[in-house]
Amino acid sequence: MTQLARLRGFIQSVTRLLDDGADEARIFRDGRPLLADLVRHDDWLPDAYAQPHPDHYQQYLLHCDPLERFSVVSFVWGPGQTTPVHDHTVWGMVGILRGAELCEEFDAHGQPAGRHELRPGQVDLVSPNVGDVHRVSNLLADAVSVSIHVYGANIGRVERHVFQPDGTRRPFVSGYANELLPNLWV
Ligand SMILES: [Fe+2]
Repeated sequence: MTQLARLRGFIQSVTRLLDDGADEARIFRDGRPLLADLVRHDDWLPDAYAQPHPDHYQQYLLHCDPLERFSVVSFVWGPGQTTPVHDHTVWGMVGILRGAELCEEFDAHGQPAGRHELRPGQVDLVSPNVGDVHRVSNLLADAVSVSIHVYGANIGRVERHVFQPDGTRRPFVSGYANELLPNLWV
């Protein structure tokens, strides 16, 4: 088995779930252990998709479903880097591959609602149904952290929002850092 076979198998399993008509609740129930299994092994992500940027976090597209029903993205945080407070508008699962992350939760009005730490192998859930607004930071001051995210859309093209401290929102489309994709078939 080549290392990317892990990612290929994960993508195949999520595709089968969606082909089977799985709704968000079933994706969270059946997809979460699939993502947990993927991030339990840190031996498959090509280095090109784990490179930090000196100034801000990176998001690398690893795969987008041809029908844009889901996308898989690697997020890479350098020491001390953080996202803005943002929403997703679709279901999402966040699996920690490397390092450690701090997730600060906010309510739909952008007000603080809790925080928790995430370690390798753990999977977090987001969606408008289970809590959709958060800020994610690298917990480590001296190392890179990497997480693998799965969303119920082509997330880099989704029109969503960044929240200001006063709760006001502005439109946000994240895009992707990469123009090339990993070859799942080597
Ligand atoms: Fe997020």
